[in-house]
Amino acid sequence: MITLDANALTNPLKEGTRTERTPEPCTMFIFGASGDLTRRKIMPSLFSLFKHRLLPAGFSVIGVSSTEWKTDDFRDAIKKALAEFVSPEAAQGPLWESFAQGLFYQTLDFRDAVSYAKLAALTQEVDQSRGTGGNHLIYLATPPSLIGDIVKNLGMVGLSKPVTPKNWTRIIIEKPFGRDYDSATQLNRTVNEYFKERQVYRIDHYLGKETVQNILVFRFANEIFEPIWNHNYIDHVQITAAETVGVEGRGAYYEEAGALRDMIQNHLLQVLSVACIEPPSSFAAESVRDEKIKVFRSIRPILPEQVGQFTVRGQYSEGVISGKRLIGYKDEPSVLKTSTTETYVACKFFIDNWRWAGVPFYVRSGKRLPKRVSEIAVTFKRIPHMLFSNTMADQHEQNVLSMRIQPDEGISLKFGAKLPGQTVRIRSVNMDFLYGSSFGSQSADAYERLILDCMLGDATLFIRNDSVEETWRLITPIHEGWKMQGDAEIPKYSAGTWGPPESDHLLERDGRKWRRL
Ligand SMILES: NC(=O)c1ccc[n+]([C@@H]2O[C@H](COP(=O)([O-])OP(=O)(O)OC[C@H]3O[C@@H](n4cnc5c(N)ncnc54)[C@H](OP(=O)(O)O)[C@@H]3O)[C@@H](O)[C@H]2O)c1
Repeated sequence: MITLDANALTNPLKEGTRTERTPEPCTMFIFGASGDLTRRKIMPSLFSLFKHRLLPAGFSVIGVSSTEWKTDDFRDAIKKALAEFVSPEAAQGPLWESFAQGLFYQTLDFRDAVSYAKLAALTQEVDQSRGTGGNHLIYLATPPSLIGDIVKNLGMVGLSKPVTPKNWTRIIIEKPFGRDYDSATQLNRTVNEYFKERQVYRIDHYLGKETVQNILVFRFANEIFEPIWNHNYIDHVQITAAETVGVEGRGAYYEEAGALRDMIQNHLLQVLSVACIEPPSSFAAESVRDEKIKVFRSIRPILPEQVGQFTVRGQYSEGVISGKRLIGYKDEPSVLKTSTTETYVACKFFIDNWRWAGVPFYVRSGKRLPKRVSEIAVTFKRIPHMLFSNTMADQHEQNVLSMRIQPDEGISLKFGAKLPGQTVRIRSVNMDFLYGSSFGSQSADAYERLILDCMLGDATLFIRNDSVEETWRLITPIHEGWKMQGDAEIPKYSAGTWGPPESDHLLERDGRKWRRL
């Protein structure tokens, strides 16, 4: 267990640098106000920021969707959502009343250009009555197919531009951003026609997670790790995002996506880039994002004819998790009985640059796996010569540094220690740092962090246009290769197991194993 320096901050939310930066007054538009993401994530995050006094005075929300609601209906819907996703008591009393005063609603068909004039009129009214000064944050929590129409219609009615040169207008766009290289490039072109790139905040909530940001601090604020953070000392890296859940009623969405699009193209490649970047010249958004793009450009593409060698896909069949019998993917609602969508994927990537030459990065993600856990684990090379005999060191493994992204965020270092006793015997032990116990407070939700960053104009943790295109450039040939292989090839795994056996073979061929999590 690692204890905290007595001089260190005890509550980063209250005392960190964040509170020194207060956002300017603003109005936030939520496109998709009646949707799942708004209820489960966006509104609970805004309410938490409000509660912690991190939102500016007069902060207002204009919810927009096609449901025929009045403002009071929207407030009722949000009240219910907070009761469900925060706590039954959250949406009661003066705090809720004060928050609810800032919520407004406009019914709108996103495709109907003409009705955007109504939105513009309501915006003026809210800006004036609430004193928000004309700064606008637009959050697109909508089906991705509508993004093009929305940005165009916002542009036509003048809502894509700042009201005056002193104001700002920013837009947050949810994933998935495109479904392959061509569509992502086209979408970038459409968005950048109406919004300058500095106004665009493509969100990936993994980047808002405390542990992911801590990878940068860990690497660049400590003297001891960076000198060994390269191919001279590192044997390989494993990045895992395992879920126990299935498609949770979102079968129609998942049929179009699959694990490679849903997890690897965005979350896991973003985590990988953070772990691998060169030291940026500063912690400013463009410096960090410039270094990330270099990593993506250095990742060796997996060509369509190489997918058999470098990737494994799988689909879950029925099985058991925590004693509960679960149906297979093909029996989930809105999933075709003939579906060949992958619910599991593992890939082996190489980064062809000076630092990472020859180091394999094994990346895996799947649904209905035995445990919910996301982590990045760095395995170090073996020592050059073992002084101790095999029997003394029979339980000694390579050093592993694992950074847990969720749950139980923290860092763990595995190393060899002498077993107490008269003889020299070595066992692997762990040195653990846990956010919860060291800082005495839970990390803020990723959406809170990211929404606040956007209000503050800090794009460091958002994805730039070139970055999204580069990641699709890596993913699209894999889909092409799978198509060439034919869909009959998709291996199955029982729900509650760690993916198909082919996934183990991917590492066994290199004399390695997946970590047991
Ligand atoms: N849910 C999550 O956990 C999650 C996580 C990560 C990313 N995302 C992303 O976030 C986005 C939204 O996801 P979601 O799960 O919230 O979707 P959802 O529940 O289906 O909500 C979609 C929203 O868009 C509105 N809408 C759809 N078509 C419309 C139209 N023509 N005119 C006006 N409103 C329209 C719907 O309003 P009406 O119902 O009133 O028509 C609804 O408010 C997606 O890009 C998704 O990939 C979601």
